[in-house]
Amino acid sequence: MKNFISIDDVADLDKLINKALYYKKNPLADKNLGEGKRIGLLFLNPSLRTRLSTQVAARQLGLEPIIFNVDKEGWALEFEEEAIMSGNTVEHIKDAAPVLGKYFDILCIRTFPSLKNKEDDYSELYIRQFVKYAGIPVVSMESATLHPLQSLTDIITITESMTSDLSIKRPRIVLTWAPHVKPLPQCVANSFSQWINAWGKADFVITHPEDYELDPAFTKGARITHDQDEALKNADFVYVKNWSTYKDYGKIYTNDPEWMLTDEKLRVSNKAKVMHCLPVRRNVELSDEVLDGPYSIVTMQAGNRVWAAQAVLSDILQSQF
Ligand code: CP
Repeated sequence: MKNFISIDDVADLDKLINKALYYKKNPLADKNLGEGKRIGLLFLNPSLRTRLSTQVAARQLGLEPIIFNVDKEGWALEFEEEAIMSGNTVEHIKDAAPVLGKYFDILCIRTFPSLKNKEDDYSELYIRQFVKYAGIPVVSMESATLHPLQSLTDIITITESMTSDLSIKRPRIVLTWAPHVKPLPQCVANSFSQWINAWGKADFVITHPEDYELDPAFTKGARITHDQDEALKNADFVYVKNWSTYKDYGKIYTNDPEWMLTDEKLRVSNKAKVMHCLPVRRNVELSDEVLDGPYSIVTMQAGNRVWAAQAVLSDILQSQF
């Protein structure tokens, strides 16, 4: 693949999953693949897992990672074409990105949405401009609407769990909305929906309160219900995530604590394994008893971020250099 921005960049998802699981067993199998090459990790927002797992993955392939916290240490970037830069932005992406293309062989970017203007966020202006002007492969470490490294990780984690529990043939996967104290992006939910639909090996259900419908471009193919208890029946995997409203963009309409996932709610499931991308607000999104209980696989899931990143970087190195 040339870039990694969404599922559309993946030619063979099963192959990518298998590659990640191979690296999990053989972390240093391709330790010289990226020798003499540098990877730039640019953060316009905070991160723990993405930042560290991508560095570990890069190093295991022999790449040299260099981190740049653009939001704290860089010039304020302008992304709009033909902008009259008389405001707060100092450097245009048209000037900055080609320079980054000279310093690095692969460029990874993390941006978030504004949650103020849906059209701007859903046009993915920031990541598109990096792709347009950097002249080198670009990997999304989360963009305004999608989080592909997380979604690949999630499917790797589900696949791995199924190989250790052969009773699950075609899993029932439930994505459930959870309360939160502030408006969050739809990225993880959009992306998880997009990838699970493309994977096509699950019965996929999304449950959320009224008015929290996601963009149908990502959810089409899933069954959507406002009845969380009904959705959780016979679930094999439950993915918990908050998101703000999509239609009336970036709002919190309800924070009903009844939507928090608890052991009691999970009783109707098929001893469902519980997933969350982290960071999680304990006892708001998920109860302690679930997170600390035997069915939580959130730490395994976060650990798998390394193998997802390693599989993607390896694919780019093998196909582009
Ligand atoms: N899940 C995830 O992307 O975590 P970070 O924001 O800590 O990178």
